[in-house]
Amino acid sequence: MTPGFDMGARAVLRCDLMRRPPFSETADGLCRRFLTPAHKAALDQLSVWMGEAGMSVRIDAAGNLVGRYEATTPERPALMFGSHIDSVRNGGAYDGALGVTLAIDCVEALHRARRRLDVAIEIVAFGDEEGSRFAASMGCSRAMAGSFDPAMLALTDIDGVTMAEAFSNFGLAPDKVGEAARACADLIGFIEPHIEQGPALEEAGLAVGVVTAIAAQRRIRVRWAGRAGHAGTTPMRLRRDPLAAAAEAMSAVEAHCRAGSHGLVGTVGQISVQPGAFNVIPGAATFSLDVRAETDAVCDAAVTALLDRFGEIAEARDIGLEIERVQSLAASPSDAALSAALRRAVEATVAGPCLSLPSGAGHDAMVMAGLCPAAMLFIRCRDGLSHHPDEHVTHEDAAVAARVLLAFLDAYEGPVAP
Ligand code: GLV
Ligand code: MN
Ligand code: MN
Repeated sequence: MTPGFDMGARAVLRCDLMRRPPFSETADGLCRRFLTPAHKAALDQLSVWMGEAGMSVRIDAAGNLVGRYEATTPERPALMFGSHIDSVRNGGAYDGALGVTLAIDCVEALHRARRRLDVAIEIVAFGDEEGSRFAASMGCSRAMAGSFDPAMLALTDIDGVTMAEAFSNFGLAPDKVGEAARACADLIGFIEPHIEQGPALEEAGLAVGVVTAIAAQRRIRVRWAGRAGHAGTTPMRLRRDPLAAAAEAMSAVEAHCRAGSHGLVGTVGQISVQPGAFNVIPGAATFSLDVRAETDAVCDAAVTALLDRFGEIAEARDIGLEIERVQSLAASPSDAALSAALRRAVEATVAGPCLSLPSGAGHDAMVMAGLCPAAMLFIRCRDGLSHHPDEHVTHEDAAVAARVLLAFLDAYEGPVAP
């Protein structure tokens, strides 16, 4: 099929457009956090593109943008494609967004060819996969999957705005977020195209691959409380420095996870220190801890070992320690049948073998798996780099991914004349 536009390349260019204001809160390095004006601008733009692709468009109660391309007959269940449209601070243009723009390209190709399938196609742009505004992530896919925890509404952003207030400011009712839940019978499956964010495809010399499973993930906030004091006059032996304790704990995280196996990784990505001055011994320090592994058992064992070690450090230094478990996401194997169909589509498209690979990154697909069969198509990115402004995907690789998605749809039901 010749769609009349550069499938895949256009999806990349659309992500490039959305890396700048008004689609980004910042001019250099993409920052598009949940329920911000930049998020709204992206939804407005995506709505236009979805409309041009022949889709009806709505924003659900959780702020998800949902486009629908009807089947030959109305009210058929849908195959859903898509990913998230929010980003980390100073992120790359393609993490999440490319999954949405690629899916739009595919639907537009069908639309231009006047083809409808026996199943409807929906495209979703989830708003909160990263948790870059509020500490917990995947609130939007949780809402769609019926697993949204209203306790999330009380989380505050860096300016003290609660998620509930952010929903209201966005024009959505916080007490209605749960109404975004979809019925299992509505959705045949969820397919998330996403950049790999790691080096495996590049090392294998392949444009795309199919995900076997998504790693288990735990988010924990760790607070250390000591005694503030004068940096010039307090002898070292009399100090109860919570930041020094936190530093020792961070080294323990690195050492433990380096020695681990089964994809164990641990990251301290955020730290705050009070009061925070050259000449004051800190009184308190707080850091975030993100631990992931291929299985829940490995992830939990690491968390237990690390928290035990933190307790020892705190005790030895006479420091108060408080642990807050912010989020736990279970490891999520991909749906076998959907993944097999994706693999066949890859093999048919590239006329070669398909690499199957695990995902260390979290994805909305792991939440959607609680609602319907879910699978992921990974797309090669340069140097495996992501969560960085230099994240890069070639037009050619994106075009392969778009062709794979169309091949998947062709094989799924086959086109039916309008
Ligand atoms: C999202 O990118 C995550 O894996 O944290
Ligand atoms: Mn990300
Ligand atoms: Mn992502």
